[in-house]
Order: sequence, then structure tokens, then C-alpha cells
Amino acid sequence: MLSRIRGTLAEPPIGFPHYADTGTGQWTTTSDGFWTGGFWGGLLALASVQGGDQKLMGGAEEVATQLTARATSDTAFRGFLFFFGAGVAHLVGESDRAREVALAGAEGLAASFNHNAGLIPLGLQAEEADAVGSGAANIDAVPGTVALLAWAARETGRQSFADMARAHARRHVEYCLREDGSVCQSAEFDPRDGTLVRRYTHKGLSDGSTWARAQAWAMLGFAQAAHWVDAELAEPAVTAADWWIEHLPAGRVATWDFDAGPDAPRDTSATAIAAAALLRLADLVPSRPHYRDHAASMVATLCQFVTPTEVGDQRTSGMLTSGCFDPKRGVATDAELVWGDYFLFESLLSLQGVINPTAL
Ligand code: GLY
Repeated sequence: MLSRIRGTLAEPPIGFPHYADTGTGQWTTTSDGFWTGGFWGGLLALASVQGGDQKLMGGAEEVATQLTARATSDTAFRGFLFFFGAGVAHLVGESDRAREVALAGAEGLAASFNHNAGLIPLGLQAEEADAVGSGAANIDAVPGTVALLAWAARETGRQSFADMARAHARRHVEYCLREDGSVCQSAEFDPRDGTLVRRYTHKGLSDGSTWARAQAWAMLGFAQAAHWVDAELAEPAVTAADWWIEHLPAGRVATWDFDAGPDAPRDTSATAIAAAALLRLADLVPSRPHYRDHAASMVATLCQFVTPTEVGDQRTSGMLTSGCFDPKRGVATDAELVWGDYFLFESLLSLQGVINPTAL
């Protein structure tokens, strides 16, 4: 994977890597970073720890700088952009430049907090912007967002940022975690007071199904919340994680939606996110040390989906294949996804003891 990261950095595509064709290694990019561009910066920052290479950290800082313009975008997914695309470079590499960018992102996110409803709404410039108003929330808006605000509170001493992070996470437990421990991606709420109106999905198979990334994002988001801002949020994280472990198919890689049937396309990125969450929770929750073994075996399986170095060059070796971005719209249903790479790489470094997963 390090070789793939170095290859992309050596011949950078124009824009932010989003997903890639696993035959040619060619990236499809976005001009503004969409919600995914920060993972490229996060990958470079992690690679600099593993590779000990200033060029890699320089690349991470460059990505963070390019993201600055997004600090005021009206999207809750700024948590993805600014925590993974800048905060990680500060946390693992003590980059002052990345710290400034991450603080700008946190400032922008905090300005979008709805104090009557107690959360940051999805936002009119979010990926699903054509379908939402000011009363929409997504579980995908918890990972990164809560950690970024809580990290910024620690850096600046602004308690209000930590309060917002806690409230945002708690609202999403209420909106998205079902009674049985499965997770629903999206919720409509009353922006005047936060009352839940209905649950539904943007990317899942149906409103009642369990989209694999919804489950995985919840595990990660609540695990980050438990570490960064509110230890009580370990409970919903564990509920979602136990459901994941119970429902993961024998092949140890989830299909894109748990209700899509055994022959549906796999989404390796969902399993990579879930592994990263389990590694955090194994450290945070004394009753769940076995999560580390589950994560390790999921990661071992995911490694079988990584294109081997002996048959490829830097452009095509080290890619995590079989990511499924958006099957309902037919986009990148069998591809390398930049966030799948990020969470697999992060999990590998955690398992090797190179980084402490709870610090992220
Ligand atoms: N919006 C985040 C995702 O598609 O996973």
C-alpha cells in the first residue's frame, strides 16, 4: 500500500483522488475534495509515519492546505475532510500547518451547529444535497466531525466545541441506532427542536435495510466520540459493533448492504472502516478485548483483496479492490476507494503497533 501511495504522490492526478479503476490504477478525482479528499491527506500522513519520509508529510500538508477553501462549505461531511485531511497530520506528525487548517474546519463546522435541535444538520452542500432540507441528518456525519470538534476544544480550550461534539453524537444515537443494534443511515428531524420525524436511507438498499457503511460509520463515529468526548458513548458503539460481528458473512467481508443477499457486490471499504472501529473499541472497552482478534481476521481477509506487488507496478500494486461506492446510482461499484485504503492502512499500522488507533 505504501508503494501505491508513493506512486500516486509521484504522478499526482489533477484534483483529489476519489476512486480508481483497479485494472489501470487511474484515479477519478474531484476538484474540491467532495467528502473524500481528506482521506488522501490522511493516507499520506500515516504513510509518513511508516515510511519516515518528509515528502509524504509534505504531500499531506499540501492536501490540507488545498482543503482550506472548504471550511465554510455547508456540509456536515467537513468532519471527514478536516479531521482525516488535516487533524490526522497534526496528530501523527505534529504539523503546525495541518493544525491551522483543522482548526479552520472546526470553526466552520461549529458555525453550522443548530442549537435548537442539538446537532449539525447534513447541510445543503452535502453529497445528498439534492434530496435534503435543513432537517436531515446522516450517520456518516459523525465520524471525523465529533473527533474534530473535540480535538479543537482541547487545542483551544473552547468548551462549547466539546459540548457540540457530545450533543451531535448523542442525537445520532437517537436518530440512527435501531433497537436491535443495526443502524439506519439517515433521519429527518424538526429543525426547531430536533424531534425525530422519520428514519430513511440515502445510499442503502431500503429504509429498513442495513447499509454496510452506515453500520461501520456508526461504530467508528461512536468509538471516536467515546474516546474524545463522552465515555458513555462506548455503549452504542459496542451495540453497533456486536451487531456487525454477529451479521458479518463467513467470508469476513460485508456486501454493500446486509440485506442485499449473499451474491451482492462486496464493499471492502465498509469492512475496513469497521476494523478500524473495532481496534479503537478493543482499547477503550475492557469487556471487549476480543474485538482486536475480529479486526485482525477482517484485516487479514482484506489483505487478500489488495493487488500484489509482484505482478504490478507502482500504479497498480497495493490497491484495495472491491470497494462499492454507490450501487444505487451505479458509481464505482467495484473499485479502489480512497477511504477504504485509508482505513485498511490505518488498521495495519495499528495492528503492527506503529500508531495508537484511539489517538485518532
Ligand atoms: N457519505 C459517506 C459514504 O458514502 O460512505
